Amino acid sequence: MTSSGAVRFWFRGEVRELEGVSPTLSVLHWLRGTGSSRGTKEGCNTGDCGACTVVLAERDGVGVRVRTANSCLLLVGMLHGRALFTVEDVADDDGLHPVQRAMAERGGSQCGFCTPGFVMSMWTAAEQAAVRGAVPTRKELADALTGNLCRCTGYRPILDAAVDATAEVVGRGARALAPQEFRAALEAVGEPAPLELRSGSVVHLAPTTLDGVLAALAENPGARIVAGGTDLVVELRLAGDDLRDDLVLVSTDAAAGLADITADGTHLRIGATARLDDVWHELVARAPALGRMAGRFASPAIRGTGTVAGNLVNASPVADLVPVLLALDADVVVAGRAGRRVVPVDGFATGVRRTVLEPGEVVVRVDVPLLSFVRTLRAYKVSRRFDDDISTVSAVLGLAQHGGRIDDVRVVLGGMATTVVRARSVERVLLGRMWDTEALRSAQAAVGSDVTPIGDHRAAASYRDRAVRGLLQRWWYETGADAPAADTDVWALR
Ligand SMILES: Cc1cc2nc3c(=O)[nH]c(=O)nc-3n(C[C@H](O)[C@H](O)[C@H](O)COP(=O)(O)OP(=O)(O)OC[C@H]3O[C@@H](n4cnc5c(N)ncnc54)[C@H](O)[C@@H]3O)c2cc1C
Ligand code: FES
Ligand code: FES
Repeated sequence: MTSSGAVRFWFRGEVRELEGVSPTLSVLHWLRGTGSSRGTKEGCNTGDCGACTVVLAERDGVGVRVRTANSCLLLVGMLHGRALFTVEDVADDDGLHPVQRAMAERGGSQCGFCTPGFVMSMWTAAEQAAVRGAVPTRKELADALTGNLCRCTGYRPILDAAVDATAEVVGRGARALAPQEFRAALEAVGEPAPLELRSGSVVHLAPTTLDGVLAALAENPGARIVAGGTDLVVELRLAGDDLRDDLVLVSTDAAAGLADITADGTHLRIGATARLDDVWHELVARAPALGRMAGRFASPAIRGTGTVAGNLVNASPVADLVPVLLALDADVVVAGRAGRRVVPVDGFATGVRRTVLEPGEVVVRVDVPLLSFVRTLRAYKVSRRFDDDISTVSAVLGLAQHGGRIDDVRVVLGGMATTVVRARSVERVLLGRMWDTEALRSAQAAVGSDVTPIGDHRAAASYRDRAVRGLLQRWWYETGADAPAADTDVWALR
């Protein structure tokens, strides 16, 4: 297929084509600059505050997905084939959208800087609720707004507004856009041709096949792969101009089939570009106790944008999906020009931002065994802020017991070393023991044999050490002999 030098997308009721723009330009800066849509605000520029929240509609198999995104982390090329909506699109023909009216009536806006971002998150929550035909609970609405920060209101009035507005939207069908309108917008844009956006020595390529991705990497040694960009674009922003010369970005996002999630008799097979919210959905469906980690992974906008491969290849010691995949003995399927190979998640990362990937190789899938040994699975996250913050320390703990004796065990720790680690010494002292206080004390004492905790701006080494011992204690409270039965935590074949 001939490639397109223009980014083609839907905006303000029509198809737009952007040519000659820098591939590292963010959608936020395009909107506020050349796009002249200043309702969308710039706060942090690193995905943390939500002031820049926009809404994207995109193809999702045969359906349409409508999701929020942080426009500061979207490169303009990421609009290719999608429809973009900003706060200027929200008002109904006859006045304010219920979300906007409720924000005004409930005192949800004071200085107003955060308000457009909140409105876009609420608009999406209301639209999604209307599709389901169910009014969300206050807790669900609070979760939907975790990526939006406000320095003025104290959040209660904002939540009150969200409750009022979603009830009105669901009750009256007071929708801004019906699903067919999203669909019509995407049909007008059409199936995107592979993108080849160039400006000087900076290039953004978005092939539509895996072969195209591999060819682009082979032709451009040193090219950076980008999926959702929620790590990579932050890296670009923090690097300033250093990373922006002679930069070739190769998107995996448009490559057909890479986002599929399937389950067969033995494995859950998760495509590399599967979105984090879909991945967590599948995992939590099989082990509900993972829900407390899933809900604290970033924000809805980041979970709807970031991917499983990005979490693995970013190789952060505090990646939150990696310890879950490691505890489940998952494998990474990697493709290169020479063919495919399978690498265990355990050992895939070799250091901070370092993995076993060879130049030109791409992660294509993660295979999670469904007949895993694990009977109960628990995931704990300690972070400085409860919502939308990366872990200081995390622990994913799996246990198979028979008559109170430990048959098999996984102890995986995040934030304790330069990679997520499997604490094999702790596992060894637990194996074959009754799961009692004595075993707990031995496990806590063995942590030091597996890791020497790191200290950094998030926490001192001594804090991390005590935090992990505390998490092991909590695990024991929840799964030891006296703990209430928790069948819902069983990782099961489905
Ligand atoms: C505000 C904010 C909050 C966050 N909170 C959390 C959190 O709570 N927990 C957490 O774990 N993470 C968090 N993150 C980090 C990030 O969202 C995740 O790591 C996410 O999974 C990255 O996926 P991505 O698709 O956006 O990766 P990208 O940024 O696109 O890529 C990340 C890295 O992976 C490489 N890569 C991507 N796909 C492939 C592939 N198929 N093959 C080879 N290499 C590939 C890229 O080259 C890059 O080096 C947060 C980020 C932000 C901005
Ligand atoms: S400007 Fe803060 S999330 Fe984008
Ligand atoms: S109203 Fe001022 S930051 Fe939210």
